[in-house]
Amino acid sequence: MSDDTRLADLQRRMADELAAADDPTAALDARLLLAHVSRLTETELALKANEQVSAAIVSAAMTLTDLRKAGKPIAKIIGVKEFWGRAFRVGAAVLDPRPDSETLIDSALAILPDKRDLKLLDLGTGSGCLILTLLAERPNARGLAVDKSRAALRIARLNAHRLGLRARASMRTGDWLAGIAGHKDMRFDMIVSNPPYIARDELSTLAPDVQFFDPRAALDGGADGLSAYRLLIAPAMDCLNEGGYLVLEIGATQAEAVSGLMQSAGFQNISVRQDLADRDRVVLGQKQAQKTG
Ligand SMILES: C[S@@+](CC[C@H](N)C(=O)[O-])C[C@H]1O[C@@H](n2cnc3c(N)ncnc32)[C@H](O)[C@@H]1O
Repeated sequence: MSDDTRLADLQRRMADELAAADDPTAALDARLLLAHVSRLTETELALKANEQVSAAIVSAAMTLTDLRKAGKPIAKIIGVKEFWGRAFRVGAAVLDPRPDSETLIDSALAILPDKRDLKLLDLGTGSGCLILTLLAERPNARGLAVDKSRAALRIARLNAHRLGLRARASMRTGDWLAGIAGHKDMRFDMIVSNPPYIARDELSTLAPDVQFFDPRAALDGGADGLSAYRLLIAPAMDCLNEGGYLVLEIGATQAEAVSGLMQSAGFQNISVRQDLADRDRVVLGQKQAQKTG
């Protein structure tokens, strides 16, 4: 490109290259990548469309365009993904937060009163998007986030810090509820989890941007995709206060199986919620409150 390249020219060239590589969101991706490289907001990018850009910016922008053409997801390139209106840092160690998981947030907030001393637990926290969103939306709640990946927890801690939630969010490395179940001082009002739920022989059929860029530990749900649910549903009952809820994200075909596991574990008021595409996405159940009198 010539020395007098304007931001708008560069953005168009990026979008054209991405479109030629069959990127279905070429224009949007070009805008996000250029905003990232030039350290401008998308609005500033539009306002400064006629300003000239340096050769260094052109070179950096084209490098990121090549990464995107090679299939790397935008969030993994720019290191940020928006979830429930907040920016979360992401990286190779964590699943990029998905719009589908906002169904879990919606379901959880609908039953989570904003009272003092609420205690929340997130199993398999990844970027921390679930627990940190719930803590941000419920300023009187405190939470514990667990993941078996130390690298994921480093990112979750960074997100807690950036969102001003460090004081209310504890993080610990762990294998689902091991070390939590059985401790009588570890009781929660709500447990949420979006565990890995893809059946192992379906992993190779996932879109390349998921298959090759999200961590396998975030995807692999064992032979039938239900391994994590089998491990965490029954012990979760032990860790809930009376009247507390277990709220689980599921794959679109897993509602019956996961509801059955919850029923066998003694959960009540089990219900299934759908995502915006009307697919089953969340199962929730309640621990019975002890009868008084
Ligand atoms: C599907 S990702 C969900 C991440 C995040 N909660 C979200 O909704 O975007 C599942 C997470 O579970 C974690 N995980 C897998 N096996 C685990 C285990 N045995 N104990 C705790 N966490 C585990 C993975 O490291 C990964 O971060």
